[in-house]
Amino acid sequence: MLTDTHCHLNDEKFADDLEEVLARAKAQGVTRIINMGDTPKSSRAALLLAEEHDGLFAAMGVHPETADEYGDEVEKEFSELAANKKIVAVGEIGLDYYWEKDSERRLLQQKVFVRQLDLARQLHLPVCIHDRDAHGDTLKILQKEGRGLRGVLHCFSGSEETAHEVWRLGFFIGVDGPLTYKNAAKLPEIVAKAPRDMVLIETDAPYLAPAPMRGKRNEPAFLRHVAKKVAELWRVTIEEAAAITAANADNLYFV
Ligand code: NI
Repeated sequence: MLTDTHCHLNDEKFADDLEEVLARAKAQGVTRIINMGDTPKSSRAALLLAEEHDGLFAAMGVHPETADEYGDEVEKEFSELAANKKIVAVGEIGLDYYWEKDSERRLLQQKVFVRQLDLARQLHLPVCIHDRDAHGDTLKILQKEGRGLRGVLHCFSGSEETAHEVWRLGFFIGVDGPLTYKNAAKLPEIVAKAPRDMVLIETDAPYLAPAPMRGKRNEPAFLRHVAKKVAELWRVTIEEAAAITAANADNLYFV
């Protein structure tokens, strides 16, 4: 029983075979999937899809790369969507300094990030955070604006020190395909030593397919490869790693 805590099923790469993708996930034991929003449009689509499928849940959010799509209207709409039980988080939100080099636009990302943290707090929802090449500012914002919030730094790519600060703040780290790559650097060591109740697994499909699928389109069925790597690092069986990380997902998203 696996829980894919982060993927993008509304991506056009799934347009032709989404039902088969969901069937394969189920066949591989992926019984729960949280589908992220990254724009207002994809957030609406994620909710519609979740309403049509058991075990499928949605998050609503505006991704840093589309920060200018956020505003009062969207905030009002998200507040209304949150009444639906299939909405389990505000996400994917955060900062992306890899793609955004302009300082003005980085400031806009920060503003939109803080506004969505406030929204999540009002709605009593956890947050799913994207932090690419922005560890310093992400932590600073969480330290200042994260009170009363719970959430996850998805696709964790920070240092061991960053991971410890994330855990100290009560946030989880989410790991996916890159954990399985040969050039994974320090991530396997961080996961090996992590408090086991603070780690979530995810695919981030269609991106970042785990080894041995690296380079292909990713899909939730491939979550098993991430679980297998976590099991290896923790020296437990894949069933145990699945149970621990599914309980962590329960703790954050389903209680
Ligand atoms: Ni994502």
